[in-house]
Parts: sequence; C-alpha cells; structure tokens
Amino acid sequence: MATLDDAPEGAPARGGKVLVKSYGCQMNVYDATRMADLLGREGYAETAEEADADLVILNTCHIREKAAEKIYSELGKLALEKRAREAQGREMKIVVAGCVAQAEGEQVLKRQRAVDLVVGPQSYHRLPDLLQQARHGRRLTDTEFAVEDKFDALPQPSRAQIRARGVSAFVTVQEGCDKFCSFCVVPYTRGAEVSRPVADVLAETQRLVEAGVREITLIGQNVNAYRGADDEGRDWSLARLLAEMGQIEGIDRLRYTTSHPVDMAQDLIDVHESIEKLMPYVHLPVQSGSDRVLKAMNRKHTAADYLDIIARLRKARPDMALSSDFIVGFPGETDEDFEDTMALARAVGFASSFSFKYSPRPGTPGAERDDQIDEEVKRARLAALQALLEEQRQAFNAATVSKTVDVLFEKPGRHEGQIAGKSPYMQAVHVSGAADRVGRVARVEIVAAGSNSLAGRLMDEGEEAKA
Ligand code: SAH
Ligand code: SF4
Ligand code: F3S
Repeated sequence: MATLDDAPEGAPARGGKVLVKSYGCQMNVYDATRMADLLGREGYAETAEEADADLVILNTCHIREKAAEKIYSELGKLALEKRAREAQGREMKIVVAGCVAQAEGEQVLKRQRAVDLVVGPQSYHRLPDLLQQARHGRRLTDTEFAVEDKFDALPQPSRAQIRARGVSAFVTVQEGCDKFCSFCVVPYTRGAEVSRPVADVLAETQRLVEAGVREITLIGQNVNAYRGADDEGRDWSLARLLAEMGQIEGIDRLRYTTSHPVDMAQDLIDVHESIEKLMPYVHLPVQSGSDRVLKAMNRKHTAADYLDIIARLRKARPDMALSSDFIVGFPGETDEDFEDTMALARAVGFASSFSFKYSPRPGTPGAERDDQIDEEVKRARLAALQALLEEQRQAFNAATVSKTVDVLFEKPGRHEGQIAGKSPYMQAVHVSGAADRVGRVARVEIVAAGSNSLAGRLMDEGEEAKA
C-alpha cells in the first residue's frame, strides 16, 4: 500500500494546503483523519489555519438542528473568504462532507453558492477524483452510498502523520445503525450497520502501535453491535476483538465507544474483568429513565434493564466509571417521566455525561408527533438535569483526590515543565514532569481536583532523581 513514509521531510506540498474541520461525534473525527491521509497522498499538506488553506473541508454533523445550522453560518464566513481570495486571483475550494452532506445533498449547493463539492461519509475515499471533477467552476454532489468499501480504497497514514496526531488513536470498527431510535437521524445519514473484518482492524491497529500509539479506542455508532468476520468467515464479537487486541505488544490501553444498552452482551461485560488493558470507563447512553419514554424512543430496553447492566459492569470492575447521553423533552414527556430520568441518574452516579434538549429532525418519527414539548419546559428540565450531572461529575473527580492512578501522558501541559494526560476514567490530569514521559503510563497521586482537570504528583519522581 502506498504511504508517505519515503517522502522527503519538508517536501513542497504539491496539492496546496488542506484544513479539515470536524463537527459531531468521534466517527467524524476519525473520518477527518482518513481524509487528511488520503489528501496527503495527493500532495496536500495539513494546516490548522483557515487563512492558509487552499481547500477547506467541513466534516459536518446533522444530529440536532443547531449542529446543522452552525454549518451554514460557517459556510457563510468561508464564502466571504473565498470571494476575497478570488479578487486577488487565488483559489479556495470548499467541500461539505459528513452527515449534513449525506442528509441534505443538493440542497447544500443551493443554499450556499460558494460550495464546490458535497461528499457523504461513505464516499469520501473518492475525494481526489471528485475534486478533479469539481474544477473550473463545476459544482457537484456525490452522496450516493458507494458500492465499494471505502476502507479498501483509503491509504494508510504515514508514520509522521500518526506521530503528529498523538499517542491515543481511534479505529473505526463498525459504521451505521439499524436501531432507528425515533429521535435520531444517524440511520439515515450513515446507513445500515456494517462491521469491518477482524484482519483489517488488527492491521490498522498494528500500524498505529508501530508508530507509537499507546491507546486505541474502537469506535462505531453502535460499537458493541460489532460482528466482524475473521479469515475463516466466522463472526467475532466486540469482546473477542478486544481480547485479541489485549495481546498486542505495545498497546497500553483499550477503550470502545459508543455502546447501546441492548447490545451490552455478557461476554463484553466479562472482558472488563479479564483484560487489564481495557479501561474501567464505559459510555452507555440511556437517553431517558422513563420506561414510557424509552418505549416511545424505540430504545428497546427499560430503566431496570439499564440499571442491571450497570450493576453487572460494576461487579466485573468495581471501579467502573460510567458516562451517558440524555435527551430531555422528547414528545409526550411528562414531569413524572422527567423525574424518572433524574432518579435514574441519581441511582447510577455518572462520572461524566452529555445532555440535550430534544431537537425534532426531518424524516424521523419523533418529529411527526403532535405532542411536542414546549421550549421553556425543555429548557427548565435540561437545566435541572445538567445541575445534577455536573454535581456528580465534580463528586467523582473529588473522590479521586489522594488516590493513586495510572496516567497515560499525551502532551505537554499548559505551563512550562508540566505534562498532561488521562486517568483510566478519562479525567484530564496534569503533573510536573519531563516531556520525555509523553507516550508512557506512570503512577500518579492525585493531589487536587479543579473544575476540569486533576492535579497530580508523579510517584516515581523521587526515585528517578536519585538514579
Ligand atoms: N449511537 C450513538 C448515537 C450518536 S448521537 C449513541 O447512541 O450514542 C449522540 C447523542 O445525541 C445521542 O445519544 C442522543 O443523546 C443525542 N441525540 C440524537 N438525536 C437527537 C435529537 N434529535 N435531539 C437531541 N439529542 C439527540
Ligand atoms: Fe441514533 Fe439510536 Fe442508532 Fe444511536 S442507536 S445512532 S441514538 S438510532
Ligand atoms: Fe453527527 Fe453524523 Fe456523528 S449526525 S453525531 S456526525 S454520525
């Protein structure tokens, strides 16, 4: 497979500079890196500055109305920049990728004349070809789900690209969703559930680890529904895949996200006990604590089922930390339903959470309902829930003070002489320490909890100084 490994350092960028801006979930973050890999092969250098970019790709999210509308205001700004450049005789191409591209296709070109190309999440591997076609003022959309497998067509990143992205990396193992929760656009924007073959996942992981990656997060819209084929055509579960990955030399930490409660199989719960590298932190969206609302959402489980999963996870790993997503104000949600959500949150005690006001999305069953909740009620419920979840987050962080945890250091800290990393429970931790510790795990005593990060002290610092 072609890579950039042999490209001379500092070689001029043949294709100019590309900025890929990602919105939404981890799947988009991953796709953005793959787009950059692909364009790197075409001679594009990555830039973080809009003013430097000859090509700007917005990798968009359609999950809530606000997310989608933000893209159009962003495009408005880019259009002005493009016009200013053109007045100076310079070119700037604008591409809309991701879930808004998939959901709105042609409409994007109609709403914003400055857009050159619209490309969906299943066909971005064709970007070089599409950019070629979109030359000389021709504007086009390609939002067809490609028949070919994009993963086969994408080049592997170079070692330099991997290293520049840090010691923690995502690997997509599963895409799409067949669940059709009645509020959600993902089954329409990302298509049906598909798992990548085991060998592909292992090969991609191996390459990342060889370039210095120490933490792998397996990602998918429904990652725990993973059913990937091995070379003999047998299907592996996510638990089996994690067990295999736990054997790979050089990996220090494994994580996976996002899971659906109905796919939280016992074998997956069990590997939290048996695989030491699997971190004790699970993101398990519950959305609501009311059985009536869960049913209307088509979530296919009850609040009691959810609590049972949490209990089994904690049995497997007593220090298990949980996070979740919540939606308040789904059509028909009563005060009593909302109280059930508050009660569920109290029963679990989350380390971290995301919570949203229900946003009616075009084409989803929830949007058709005539019992939509008043904006003011949604606002008040969200404020109450967020106050509780924030209290839980702070309590969780405060409880780690004076404990000793392993920290994987990822980057220099904000202040001189500091390094920063993550605890097993996804908390940001900073300590005084030498930059050469980045990429390694060390024991840290947590000495204080701030509002967004923990301060710690390296346990082996004294010994190193003596050595
Ligand atoms: N399969 C992923 C879905 C990603 S969407 C998962 O289950 O996490 C991420 C979160 O966005 C969802 O969990 C849900 O809480 C929220 N969300 C999805 N559609 C929404 C909508 N229409 N309004 C408000 N929040 C929504
Ligand atoms: Fe959306 Fe539900 Fe699928 Fe998650 S499981 S992507 S919330 S339809
Ligand atoms: Fe958004 Fe698409 Fe992810 S709608 S949340 S970017 S799958």
